Amino acid sequence: MVVSRDARGSSWPSEVELGAVRKKVAEMSGREARDVRVVACPYRICPLGAHIDHQGGVVTAMTINYGVLLGFVPSDDAEVLLQSRQFQGVVRFSTRDLQCPIQNPEKISWESYARGALYALQSEGYDLKKGIVGFICGVEGLDSSGLSSSAAVGIAYLLALENANNISKTPLDNINLDRLIENKYLGLENGILDPSAILLSQYGYLTFMDCKTVTPSYIYFSELKKGQQTTGQVTFKILLAFSGLQHNLPKKRGYNTRVSECKEAARALLSASGHGDLEPLLCNVDPSSFEAHKGKLEGNLAKRAEHYFSETKRVAKGRDAWGNGNLVYLGQLISASGRSSIDKYECGSKEMIQLYEILLKAPGVFGARFSGAGFRGCCLAIVDDSLAEEAAAFVREEYEKVQPHLVSQIPPDKRVLICEPGDSARVIMPTYT
Ligand code: GLA
Repeated sequence: MVVSRDARGSSWPSEVELGAVRKKVAEMSGREARDVRVVACPYRICPLGAHIDHQGGVVTAMTINYGVLLGFVPSDDAEVLLQSRQFQGVVRFSTRDLQCPIQNPEKISWESYARGALYALQSEGYDLKKGIVGFICGVEGLDSSGLSSSAAVGIAYLLALENANNISKTPLDNINLDRLIENKYLGLENGILDPSAILLSQYGYLTFMDCKTVTPSYIYFSELKKGQQTTGQVTFKILLAFSGLQHNLPKKRGYNTRVSECKEAARALLSASGHGDLEPLLCNVDPSSFEAHKGKLEGNLAKRAEHYFSETKRVAKGRDAWGNGNLVYLGQLISASGRSSIDKYECGSKEMIQLYEILLKAPGVFGARFSGAGFRGCCLAIVDDSLAEEAAAFVREEYEKVQPHLVSQIPPDKRVLICEPGDSARVIMPTYT
């Protein structure tokens, strides 16, 4: 099949997808389809660096060729009017309505992400004069699956509101604004992996984000390979295998509980090494202090800290493996990261562990791990280009044997997806402008 790519190399979104969104916004707003702007916000994966972003660690990130599209036109006034392909109802509010953080996570709904974006901009002192008429659509079956669909949605609203109000922001500004949505408005104590991936990824590169200094760096695939011309052309596919269990992270306590455990471990290690004045984050603990004092940590705290320090080493080794195009070693690191998430960070579930183990046995798979937070959702694998279809068929069949009921609830074409790397979020303006 010939895949059409834009100038940046990404095959998503297609003209057909853009056309459908523009048509819907034209119907909602009474404007011409050719006047509709579209925000394309890709989903992301994190091959290495699981659960260390909130501790200021270095994480790796890449987007894929699937994501959220938000078609919109600026309103004539401050009204925001929204519809969603996945969710029922019409959302209507004014950009003049003052937004306050959600107190009860059970109240989070699809509307919350639009209000959260407004909250973030209001917190930065913006008084938005213009709302938007918009239609949002993610990929059926991929919401709440560990691909950062919620950050993609929040960022889509941020970019649309900024665009409609002629506000110019850098990707780093928007990472910060997304933090306000997630940490303050929704109450999830996550790090900056998701917005960094969505806003900074470049096709063919792996992004390394230092979450302590908020500094990205990029490595082109194979660029360190000695004596060979570097093309950056990836020779693998990304396999996503869905468990059939979805979750909205802010509604669950497990994520924030583990973040607290990491901070508690950091506090104990910093105090044992005479640095009790530093912020209790594991990135502030010197690896030698961890080695010297880890015996003082008990139970869960010891396990969480071990995950952090071992994952940090895997990210460093992954930099060379990726840069050398050494997919075999990169894959081993990814699978070891998956194992550490199971044994040390303990964020899996029975179904996710089954999927992880099935992926490891699939033909052509270099390595696999949970995607995203990993409590539910999907697992990812890096697989040899030429064996991707065979691997997908194997995983579909084997997972159905162990979880027939769950599998029957996943749309057949979304049980296992073969993906490619993508690009960063962007606003696609009408072509005549
Ligand atoms: C979720 C969070 C991220 C990150 C990952 C795990 O996706 O939103 O900040 O912690 O889990 O790596």
